[in-house]
Parts: sequence; structure tokens; C-alpha cells
Amino acid sequence: MSGKVHVMDHPLVAHKMTILRDKNTSVKDFREIVSEIGMLITYEATRDLPLTTKEVETPICTTTAPTLKGKKFAVVPILRAGLGLVDGVLQMVPGARVGHIGMFRDEETLEPHVYFCKMPKDIAERDILIVDPMLATGGSAEAAITEMKKRGCTNIKLMVLLAAPEGIERIQTSHPDVNIYCGAVDDHLNENGYIVPGLGDAGDRIFGTK
Ligand code: PRP
Ligand code: URA
Repeated sequence: MSGKVHVMDHPLVAHKMTILRDKNTSVKDFREIVSEIGMLITYEATRDLPLTTKEVETPICTTTAPTLKGKKFAVVPILRAGLGLVDGVLQMVPGARVGHIGMFRDEETLEPHVYFCKMPKDIAERDILIVDPMLATGGSAEAAITEMKKRGCTNIKLMVLLAAPEGIERIQTSHPDVNIYCGAVDDHLNENGYIVPGLGDAGDRIFGTK
């Protein structure tokens, strides 16, 4: 069975995605909105976090109320564009640890190469949320998931802003245990591996490098 794809069905996300798509959106606004959408998708991606209960004293009486079980959680941005999503995740899950995975794509083959990987020591015991704004061919996310599995991780989710059907299919084939959370799914990839209609190069737009 392949992993599930959760596409955000929410007017706030739809509105913010349109601002990201606009080529005239400033670097400042682009960066802020990437983070905001990251926060909103995290809300959906953490829906299954386990709860326990504790006793609290309200101003009225004592009651038993839900509280997070405190399961170990880590957010793993794929460098560099994934960094743009980290703050949004941490606003929702402030206690999360952060692991970094550096990856660049060969410009001709579009295949990714891992050049950096720094994880918390107990990463194998943590639930993992890999974050990257774009799932295009799926090569980068596929390699990042493989890298996390090599380190013993068994509970992995992938969160992206925008996905292409080609990338979704690749992850569902190579990592059927990984559920994908995304802001929107676009039409197709062009001959350069860009998502169409897309939003351009996410890293360049977050960091203002073009
Ligand atoms: C972008 C994006 C993903 C990757 C997606 O990164 O942030 O990591 O492309 O493409 P794929 O699904 O075909 O692998 P890029 O390689 O441009 O690097 P950057 O983060 O440094 O901008
Ligand atoms: N990476 C990006 O940043 N944008 C795309 O459309 C595809 C890959």
C-alpha cells in the first residue's frame, strides 16, 4: 500500500500559495509566507500526535484534561530551501529537535547528492518530519528519506508546499510507508524539472539569490 497524500484544503493556504506563485512577490513577503504556510501544514501533519491526560485546576474546579504525550519529534529541513519551513514548524512544536540534511542536484541529471547530514544523537527514536518547499522529480526527498532510514528512523513524514504528480508517485513507489503533507499539487514538471505552474526556484526566492 502506498503512503497517503494530504493536500491542504483551506482558504488561508490557497490564498497564501497564490501570493507565493506571483513572481512580483518580494523576498521578504515570500520568506514570511513560506513560514506561515509551514505552520499551517504542521497543524495537519501533527494531527495524530498522541495525547495523554493530566489533572489541572481550573479557576472553577479540578479536572482531567488532554496534554501531549511528549513523544520525541524532529524536523529535518532539506538544505537549503527547507530552512524556510523550520520556524513555522517550531512555532507549533517548540520542543522539536532539528536535524539538517544538505543536498544539491546535478544540474544535468537532476539527481541529488547528499553533502551534509547532522542529526540529533537519538534520531532513530524520534518521529521525523522532513520539510522542503518543493517536491518536483522527488529525487531530493527520496534521498533524504533513504538517509533517515539508514539512521534507523521508522516513522517519517514529508511536508512540502508544492508537489508535482511525478514526485508524489516517486515517493509512493520508493517509500510507501511515508505520508506526504502538501499545500497544493500542481500539473506537471517542465523539461528542466520545474513544477508548472509552480512558483519558480524556492531557494532563490527565499534567500534572494537570483
Ligand atoms: C529544490 C527544492 C528541493 C528540490 C526539489 O532544491 O528545494 O530540494 O529542488 O526537486 P526534486 O524533487 O526534483 O529533487 P534545489 O536543488 O534547487 O536546492 P536549494 O534548496 O539550494 O535551492
Ligand atoms: N525546485 C524548485 O525550487 N522549484 C521547482 O519548481 C522544482 C524544483
